[in-house]
Amino acid sequence: MKLIVTGGAGFIGSSFVRMALNEGWAENVVNVDKLTYAGNLDNLHPIADHPGYNFVQLDICDGPAIDDLFRSESPDAVVHFAAESHVDRSIHSPAPVILTNFNGSFALLEAARLNKVARFVHVSTDEVYGSIEPPHEADETYPLRASSPYSASKAASDLLALSYSTTYKLNVSVTRASNNYGPYQFPEKLIPLMISNAFEDVSLPVYGDGQQVRDWLYVEDHCHAIHAVLEKGDGGEVYNIGGNCSLPNLEVVRRILRATGKGESLIQRVADRPGHDRRYALTSKKLTTKTGWEPRMDFETGLQKTVDWYRANRDWVQRVKTGEYRQFYDLNYTSRQA
Ligand code: NAD
Ligand code: DAU
Repeated sequence: MKLIVTGGAGFIGSSFVRMALNEGWAENVVNVDKLTYAGNLDNLHPIADHPGYNFVQLDICDGPAIDDLFRSESPDAVVHFAAESHVDRSIHSPAPVILTNFNGSFALLEAARLNKVARFVHVSTDEVYGSIEPPHEADETYPLRASSPYSASKAASDLLALSYSTTYKLNVSVTRASNNYGPYQFPEKLIPLMISNAFEDVSLPVYGDGQQVRDWLYVEDHCHAIHAVLEKGDGGEVYNIGGNCSLPNLEVVRRILRATGKGESLIQRVADRPGHDRRYALTSKKLTTKTGWEPRMDFETGLQKTVDWYRANRDWVQRVKTGEYRQFYDLNYTSRQA
């Protein structure tokens, strides 16, 4: 199988590319990535010399170039990760988020339609369901109630992808996953930010009361689920992907402090995120019934592996926090102080 993977230099996309080649899910992978602040070719170092790996630096919003690429590569399938993925950035600066997440997805769907690509997986998020009151959890029929420009852009692109199934019979499935964690995640997201701050004895900024609940999914479990959907999912269908691990943010931060051997005095309460969703919760029963997939990683082990990776790769963290990435790294912390 020849895959086009978009956003393969980012956190989840790079994990998927490494696994696809190492585990033989595909013989050939063409990684299409613009290399924004979040895209880092270091993440592909373990497979950079694999004979089946190719990298193309391209903006997915460039419709004609994407169409040319699809025509010349004739992929069997597309797995679409590329996005502006950070909620705080989408609040601070929505334009690139809307352009990449909606227009970029449109360019890819259109190229897939015109070039008769046999299979397309559109990678989306549980954030499209908005905040969910306990004890409820969202299944795939739950109403879309996006709260941030990021989640609205993802909800809009989900609907566009599904319209390509209904109207053009493109064989496209949509996946909606919960919060991912693991190695190579840009240190703007909660877990890697808190780990790297703890290592540096810098305060850990907790938004509001810290009682917001997220469901944590280890990145490799997510990639296995996407592979299952690619192979066994039906066109026109949505599949939730959850980690079966719901925790309040403050509890996650406390566990990180214990795993890094640091004290709770590093916790700093800061202003809440505007429009902050209180709780995400979803069921992945549909995916498990269809494919047999279940998350394998328990949070304690996954968090320890993640902390160990960040401890062993402090040079990676330093590189993304300095130089060309610096202005982006600072965004979260400085905006929360305002
Ligand atoms: P990331 O921010 O780590 O990586 C995004 C990648 O997309 C980067 O390599 C970046 O260079 C690339 N990119 C951005 N704009 C582009 C453009 N215009 N053209 C080409 N490439 C572009 O993101 P991530 O956390 O790995 O998320 C990947 C996907 O998974 C996204 O679609 C996101 O919405 C979804 N998702 C993420 C999570 C999570 O917890 N991180 C959970 C559920 C779903
Ligand atoms: O639910 C899936 C989504 O998870 C993905 O679609 C997004 O791409 C991904 O970024 C993530 O969104 P969140 O907003 O949930 O992730 P983030 O790591 O930014 O924040 C997790 C929680 O931690 C959230 O409630 C906000 C809080 N937080 C975050 C940061 C960065 C803090 O309290 N302090 C922080 O410094």
